[in-house]
Amino acid sequence: MSEHPFFFTWSAQRDARGVNITGGRGAWFTTDDGGRWLDMASLVYQANLGHGHPRMIEAVKRQADTLCLTMPSAVYPAKTALANKLLALAPKGFSKVFFTLGGAEANENALKIARMATGRTKAISRFRSYHGATMGALSLSGDYRRPPLEPGIPGVVHALDCYCDRCPFGQTLDRCKIECADHIDQLMTLDGPNTFAAVFLEPVPGANGVLVPPPDYWPRVRAACDRHGTLLVADEVLTGFGRTGRWFGFEHYGVTPDMITLGKGLTGGYGTLGAVLVHERVAAHFEDRPLLAGLTHYAHPLGCAAGVEAIAVYEDEGLIDRAAALEPALLGGLEQIRRRHPALVAFTRGQGLLAALELKLDKGQWAALQRGLDARRILTHPKPSTNMLVLSPPLCIDQDELQLGLDGVEAALIEASTDTPAA
Ligand SMILES: Cc1ncc(COP(=O)(O)O)c(C=O)c1O
Repeated sequence: MSEHPFFFTWSAQRDARGVNITGGRGAWFTTDDGGRWLDMASLVYQANLGHGHPRMIEAVKRQADTLCLTMPSAVYPAKTALANKLLALAPKGFSKVFFTLGGAEANENALKIARMATGRTKAISRFRSYHGATMGALSLSGDYRRPPLEPGIPGVVHALDCYCDRCPFGQTLDRCKIECADHIDQLMTLDGPNTFAAVFLEPVPGANGVLVPPPDYWPRVRAACDRHGTLLVADEVLTGFGRTGRWFGFEHYGVTPDMITLGKGLTGGYGTLGAVLVHERVAAHFEDRPLLAGLTHYAHPLGCAAGVEAIAVYEDEGLIDRAAALEPALLGGLEQIRRRHPALVAFTRGQGLLAALELKLDKGQWAALQRGLDARRILTHPKPSTNMLVLSPPLCIDQDELQLGLDGVEAALIEASTDTPAA
C-alpha cells in the first residue's frame, strides 16, 4: 500500500506523485524540501491570482472572524455582494446566481436547471471536453475519463470537436465551413427534435488541448440552439476570470449564453466555490415553480468572501488585461519553440494565458520530459495520452518569469528528445 492515508485523484495510488507544497508567492510555490517551483499551470487552473496573495488571505480570515456557519436559506453580506458582482460581470439580462462548491456541481446544476426550465432531458457536449468528475458532469465530459465509469446519466450525446489542427471533418483552415458547429445543429435534428435541454461547451476546451474555435463557431451554435429551443451553457470553469484575456471566454465570440458555469478562478483557489449564472429568460421559470436543487454548504461564507475579494483583486491589479497583454509573449514563445524543433512539436495553440504545445513524443520521451520539468521545478499540465503539454500560468506572472518557464520547457523537451531508455 502507498504510504499516504488518503487517496490521490485520477491515479493508481502506487504511481501517484505527491507534491509536499508548503506555500508560495506570486507565480512561485514552495515545497518542504526547500524547493521553489515556477507555476506554469496555476496548479489545476485555479490559481489565477497567484500564490500567497495577502489580500485573499486577509479576506478569508476576516470572514472567518465574522460568520462561518450558515444554511442555504441564510442571507448575509458576502453572499449578496458576490451574486451582485457576478451579475454585473455577466452580459445584460443575467438575473440570478446559483452557488455550488466547485465546477462539476456547477455543471450538474446547470443541467438540472435546463431540464426543469425546458421540460426536456437530453444534452449535447463534445468528445474533447471535461465538465467535472461527478456523475452528471462526467456524463457530459467527453474525454478519456468518462468511458471507464459508464454508464453515466442517460441522454447525453457527444459531438465532434472544433479541433482545427486535426479537423474531424477533414478540412483545412482555408476551406473550413465550420462543419463542427453544423454537426451540433444536425444532432439536435437527427437525435430527436425538441428533446435537447442544453448544449454544454467550454469556450475554449482547455484540458483537452486548448482547441480555440473559429470565430463563427459560437455564433453558429447559438443560432442552432435558438432554432431548436435548446439552452446554451458556457462552461467557464477553466476559461472564466481572465484565463483567455477576457473576463469570460465566450466574450471573444460575441454571443450570450443562457447559463454560465464557474469555479476555479472564481476564488482563485482561496475558497471552494462554484456558481451558475442564469439568464432571466431561464430564471423566470422558477418564480412560481420550485427550483429542485440545493446543497448543505450552498454559498459558504468563506467561499463567498474569497469570491468578492478575488473579483476586486482581478480589477485592482488589472489581471484580465494583463493576461491579454501577455498572450503574444506566451504564444510567440511557443511558436518559436515549434520552429526551432519541428521534429518535436506539431502545433501550438492558445488564447490569453492558456496555451498548448502538441508534441510528437513517444512514451519514453514523455517520461523523460516529465523528469526534466520536475528537475527544473516547473509545473505544467502534461497530457501524454494526447501528446499535449498545456500551460496556464497565473495571471500575475511577469514577462521574465514567463520566459524562464518557456526556456525550461524547451530545455526539458530537447533533453527528452535525446533520451535513450536504459538498456
Ligand atoms: C471546463 C471544466 N469544467 C468543469 C471542471 C470541474 O471543476 P471541479 O474540479 O472544480 O469540479 C473542470 C476542472 O478541471 C474544467 O476544466
